[in-house]
Amino acid sequence: MKLRALAIAAFLFSTTLVSVGSGAAEAKSKMNVQPFGKTSDGQPVELYTLKNKNGVEAGIITYGGIVNFLKVPDHAGKFADVVLGYDGMDGYLQDKSYFGALIGRYGNRIAKGEYKLGGKTYNVPKNNGENSLHGGIHGFNSKLWTAHDVAGSDGHALELTYVSKAGEEGYPGTLSVKVVYTLTNSNELKIDYSATTDAETVVNLTNHSYFNLAGQGEGDILQHQLTLHADRYTPVDAGLIPIGELASVKGTPFDFQTATAMGARIAQDNDQLKLGKGYDHNWVLVAHEKGKLALAAEVYEPRSGRVLQVLTMEPGVQFYTGNFLDGTAHGKAGKVYNQRYGFCLETQHFPDSPNHPNFPSTVLKPGQHYHTTTVYKFSVKP
Ligand code: BGC
Repeated sequence: MKLRALAIAAFLFSTTLVSVGSGAAEAKSKMNVQPFGKTSDGQPVELYTLKNKNGVEAGIITYGGIVNFLKVPDHAGKFADVVLGYDGMDGYLQDKSYFGALIGRYGNRIAKGEYKLGGKTYNVPKNNGENSLHGGIHGFNSKLWTAHDVAGSDGHALELTYVSKAGEEGYPGTLSVKVVYTLTNSNELKIDYSATTDAETVVNLTNHSYFNLAGQGEGDILQHQLTLHADRYTPVDAGLIPIGELASVKGTPFDFQTATAMGARIAQDNDQLKLGKGYDHNWVLVAHEKGKLALAAEVYEPRSGRVLQVLTMEPGVQFYTGNFLDGTAHGKAGKVYNQRYGFCLETQHFPDSPNHPNFPSTVLKPGQHYHTTTVYKFSVKP
């Protein structure tokens, strides 16, 4: 009896090993890597293609950690690339829209390019009128990241690392950043951001993908139906800096608590919409709980049936309707990107937090570990 039990145990053990082994081998299938041109100082840029078992593909380049393409199916199973971008490095080197890029150290704006930390005043570049936007002139979107294929049981995964030296773009502390893009078999593009510092600093990382669920370059996004799980937003001044108030969305064009077309109220006579030239504001997410993923937004595009859900650990999301796109960018496959041809849902801490003690803190101290996750999940409705 004992022997038989041992034999069964040994058999089970060996089959477990075989199945774990083959499963891992399947998950660990190598990502495709291709050259993608050069940076302005001649360094080679690579394009990694993550693919899942449903045929969904995400292309990430090592310059700016940019999501270059994202191909997902519609209700009929037809694939389209649903993010805006460029066919080559020339476009990205001239880009002013941050298509698909990783944003840091500080996503969104810092008023007058100035903030206080530990009793000291820090100045960061004013690259957006009198304010600092998306980490300054040479933000993380323009850096070359080191890439490693770290595929796991969850699917294809690409790890990108970058060390931002103390003082870079005016920010104190050497910041070591790691971003992992995972394409899961549930059609999710998961982005895990982590960072550590050797001196007190501020951090607010995000991704700046512009989506068009009908396909990139396929018209404006005004018919996309948006639900935002947020009951308040942060109204802004003329420079798009929050005035400090968390205002209720109730009875305003900022109420997306039930699905509403992005374009339904965008042209209303509303001071905040005028300041943003459309939607370009931060919403306060109701379900936010530190360290937990919560549903922030859902978008449905009626023609294709594509649905995008955004889950995040962040307290806020910047909903931006591509108000500054003006048709001058030469997009992928010869497409022109006119105003409102893409929307962004940039998960984040609130803009200008270092100057607003009442906002959730963006301070990172030595010994602390910055970690935040955002998931862009795709599906279809018939
Ligand atoms: C900002 C917009 C800006 C865009 C591209 C968004 O995050 O809120 O005002 O035009 O990024 O730079």
